[in-house]
Amino acid sequence: MEEKVDCKNQNTDISENSCFLRACKGLHTNFTPIWLMRQAGRYMKEYRDLRAKVSFIDLCKNSDLACEVTVTAAREIGVDAAIIFSDILLILQPMGFQITYDEGVGPQIHNPVKESKDVEAILDFDVKSELSYVFDAIKKVRSELNNTIPLIGFSGAPFTLASYLIEGGGSKNFVKTKRFMYKEKNAWNRLMENFTKSLSNYLTSQIEAGAQALQIFDSWVGCLSRSDYREYVMPHMKILLNSISKRVPVIHFGTGTSAFLEDMKEAGGDVIGLDFRVDLIDAWNRLGDIPVQGNLDPCILFSDKDLIAKKAAEILEAVNMRPGYIFNLGHGVLPETPVDNVKYLVDFVHEWRVKNQ
Ligand code: CP3
Repeated sequence: MEEKVDCKNQNTDISENSCFLRACKGLHTNFTPIWLMRQAGRYMKEYRDLRAKVSFIDLCKNSDLACEVTVTAAREIGVDAAIIFSDILLILQPMGFQITYDEGVGPQIHNPVKESKDVEAILDFDVKSELSYVFDAIKKVRSELNNTIPLIGFSGAPFTLASYLIEGGGSKNFVKTKRFMYKEKNAWNRLMENFTKSLSNYLTSQIEAGAQALQIFDSWVGCLSRSDYREYVMPHMKILLNSISKRVPVIHFGTGTSAFLEDMKEAGGDVIGLDFRVDLIDAWNRLGDIPVQGNLDPCILFSDKDLIAKKAAEILEAVNMRPGYIFNLGHGVLPETPVDNVKYLVDFVHEWRVKNQ
């Protein structure tokens, strides 16, 4: 833990030169930074208590509460970055889609895209005013954190958002999405272009509000083959990622994307987020000279501490202090995860180098 203090004392503006941001830039760090996707959520008692009083959407739209949830989670588990509390699907509302989060069912879109004319009917909207609650929350979190740790902003990627819009919710086989993509290629491209434009504005506004890094979640793009990724998704990702590049580090995350990791790198981003299915070092060697983030299986956190330590140490040993590495799970923290195990993992990763140098 000594090392952590050293790292934080080197600079007055701690969050700008934090271990997390240094690792995103491929620089040496004194300890391995860690944060966890979905680190704020139902596995935490504070969150469940708040949710007993307020709906998920109202929670996201109340910038004081969203700030509180963001900061409480980051402090409680002791991670090296906070991620703004929001959801990838909220941008669909000002586009004209009705969305609900139904207990036990997950998100539902009640007027999904079924044919090309539904794409034409998507509303133009002003990102700054319609999503002002996200930018307000970012400003409040930055002030509350007071440069102790950096704040990550985020959005979904065009493919993942399109999949929710077309399926009307989550999906297993993405039949409707792929059918639309293959049959209505022009409308598909217009939909992806529409997302690219609004996401670019949305992410730029998050940076302006104070986000110090961004993560793009392409959670479900791994359902595609490599050639379909290159044809239907990559051109749009290139435009999006290029439009937000060189301001703050951008983490480009997908799951099930082992077939086209190199293409994700080519599409853009400063850090590639790896899921738990790939061997971290194999994937990193394939990717070459770019920072990576990942990739402990979130289900490991349901085991005992010995197994958590063993699996985390396997990753840390394999990384062997190579610069440009951020510890994370290979997907989000799951709802029933024991909080103690999450804290144990964070401490284990922080203390590992001190014990192993
Ligand atoms: O990481 C964080 O702590 C920030 C908050 C965050 C949420 N969603 C809050 C949330 C982030 C980064 C997301 C991203 C998100 N949302 C993704 C990409 C990440 C991933 O898991 O692949 C996706 C696919 C969504 C869409 C979404 N939102 C789903 C599928 C669900 C239902 C599943 C579930 O976990 O309940 C949500 C709801 C949601 N988003 C909750 C939270 C805390 C649970 C809402 C509740 O019941 O309180």
